[in-house]
This record gives sequence, C-alpha cells and structure tokens, in this order.
Amino acid sequence: MRVKAAVLTGTGRPFEVDEVELAGPKAGEVLVKVAASGLCASDLNVIDGKRGLAPFPVVLGHEASGVVAETGPGVTRLKAGDPVLLSIVPSCGHCPSCGNGRPNYCAVAGEAMSRGGLFDGTSRLSRGGRRLNHFLTVSSFAEYAVVPESGAVRVDPAMPLDRAALISCAVLTGYGAVHNTARVRHGSRVAVFGCGGVGLNVVQGARTAGASRIVAVDVNPDKLRLAERLGATDVVHADRQDPVAAIDELTGGVDYAFEALGREQTVQQAWQSLDVGGEAVIVGLMRHGATVTLDANPFVDEKRIGGCYFGSAHLLRDVPALVERYLAGDLLLDEIISRRIGLDDLTEGFGRLRAGDGARNVLVF
Ligand code: APR
Ligand code: ZN
Ligand code: ZN
Repeated sequence: MRVKAAVLTGTGRPFEVDEVELAGPKAGEVLVKVAASGLCASDLNVIDGKRGLAPFPVVLGHEASGVVAETGPGVTRLKAGDPVLLSIVPSCGHCPSCGNGRPNYCAVAGEAMSRGGLFDGTSRLSRGGRRLNHFLTVSSFAEYAVVPESGAVRVDPAMPLDRAALISCAVLTGYGAVHNTARVRHGSRVAVFGCGGVGLNVVQGARTAGASRIVAVDVNPDKLRLAERLGATDVVHADRQDPVAAIDELTGGVDYAFEALGREQTVQQAWQSLDVGGEAVIVGLMRHGATVTLDANPFVDEKRIGGCYFGSAHLLRDVPALVERYLAGDLLLDEIISRRIGLDDLTEGFGRLRAGDGARNVLVF
C-alpha cells in the first residue's frame, strides 16, 4: 500500500514528507494504523548524528500508538481493531536474553534494529523501488507501520492514544528506572538530573514509589515547574547553583540519584550526590566514546552506580499497569504533552526539542 511518511536521508537533513510503499505484514507481524508518535531525544540523536541507531534512508519515530489494521500469518495475541502501543523492545522469545527474563536485551531484535530491518532482516518500506530502513522496528512517522507482533501491546480502549504513545518510551524508561531497575524503597530520598520527557517520568515514578524527598535538577525553569507538578518536593536550578551542594543541603545526600540526560558531568554529579549506601542509576544515553572519572573512595560506603536500558521493562507486565495508573489519575500524562503536531511540522518540532522548548511534542494523525 502507499502511505504518507517522513523520510530522513541523512544527518542534519530536513524530513521529506512523501508517499512511500509499505508491504503487508509477513509471518509474526502486524500492520498498524498509527495514531500518535512522540518526538523523543533518541530520534533527535539520529537526526543530529550523535548516535547512529539505524542506517539511512530511514523512517524515524518510535514512541507510538495506533490501531491494528491487519495481522500476518501466525499472529495470535492481536487482532484487527485492537488499540496498541508500539515499542522498541520487541522480543523473539527464544534467544538467551529472552530466556533469562531480560527481553529488553533480545539479541534477534538488536540485530534487526542495527540493520534497519524487521526480525528477518528485510524491510517492508521502500520509495521508488529503493529500500527504506525501519527505525528500531517501529518507524511511526508514517500513517501506517508494520511491526513485530511482540512490539505491539494491546491497551485498554479507554486509554487516549496520544497519551498511550508517551508510555511507549518516556514513561516506560523513566518510571521503569525507578520501579524495575532501582526498586526505590518507600521513604527514600531521590535526585533526578535532567527533567525532560524521561526525567519527568523518573519524578513521577519516585512519587508513586513513596519517596520522601524528590529533588529535580534542570537548567530550564519551565521543566522544573513541571517537575513540581509531577511530584518533585524540591527543585535545583543547575545553572544558578552547584547541584551537588544544593542536594547535600536539602537532603544530606540521596539514596538514589537518576541521571536522565546522558552527559559525563551529570553522571559525576549523580555519583557525588549520594549518601552512604546510595545508588546512582544512569538512564541517559551517553555519546559514543564517552568516559567518566569517578571518585573511588565512596565504594567503601557501599555506594553503587549502574546502568539502565529502557527502564528494565517487561512490556506485557508494565504497559497494562501503567495504563491502569493513568486511568486511575495516578500517572500524569496530559501535562507532559506540550504540543500536538502534523507530519509536515516534524523538522520544526525537533527544533523545539533541541532548544528545550516544551516537554513532549506529539505527532498525531
Ligand atoms: N543539568 C541538568 N539538566 C540539564 C542540564 C544540566 N547541566 N542541561 C540540560 N538539562 C535538561 C534539559 O533542560 C532537558 O529538560 O535535561 C533535559 C533533557 O531532556 P530531553 O532533551 O527532553 O531528553 P529526554 O527525551 O528526556 O531524554 C533524556 O534519556 O533516553 C535517553 O536519549 C535520551 O539521553 C537522553 C535522555
Ligand atoms: Zn524514545
Ligand atoms: Zn530474543
């Protein structure tokens, strides 16, 4: 079928909104009519060439939701008409990672993504007879997408699809870092470095985990105001005060520090903000080749530092729980959408993300 899509041919280029060919779903795949797709820092990293996550030319977009239009052979869990959230952590179900209960590290999915294809390595997308690559097996900056069945999770029909899209990346990542990766205990003191789409969901993850103090750190006053609405008890303007000293003064050091930005300096600050026995969790994607120097003495104080990919998410367990929390008024998402835009406004939307203007721009069809 022919669908409208935003094609990116190289770093620093504007999106080309064009009609492209989308082949139907093969075995184990589903065709989804895209409803919404958030503009995420990981898309921006590809546009700006900071982290090449897929070969060009590519159809970006991965924080998405939609409605199943057609199912390929062998698909059993989904049927046409199901509202779904699309995800960048599909899983094959039989590689060692999937078998070890770490489906977010599925080897088959990882290989497919690095080649810009679906699980069999091939692409369903083309333009003028030339292959277009998929992005993280989603490619939702298009009217329709073909994705692996395991990369689509059915959601409660009561869930508004533009907000469901946010759950698929920013919320799973930030909230999951708190509840799955760190397992923040009730009454803990928490600091969050960077309050963009991901960090704001670390803040609300910490609130729902019952943290006693949640210190939000950012350089943008609008983001700090939003962090307060989502549950931060204290805010630190990182460009006006030294965040480590400010956190020490407010809390005496924190039990958990989350880095949701991906910079060497904020990783160091997260480490330095810990109290005895504290844990730093690095959620932000670092640039290729980044190295971080840390003061090693606090190891004796049982301080720990570790990484986190995609909130250690298990889709089938976490997505329904997050949807339920939104519908119960416990997870705030309306506040995080700063603007709804169309396919033709993507280049401008990413300009706003680069400039830190607003929390999340969401493409809606
Ligand atoms: N200290 C604290 N916060 C800062 C600083 C700083 N020195 N500099 C910038 N920030 C803030 C920005 O103002 C912004 O609010 O960090 C936030 C980053 O947010 P976004 O750009 O919206 O990024 P987001 O989508 O949340 O992703 C954050 O997680 O998934 C990864 O690739 C992603 O590494 C990225 C990180
Ligand atoms: Zn994302
Ligand atoms: Zn697997």
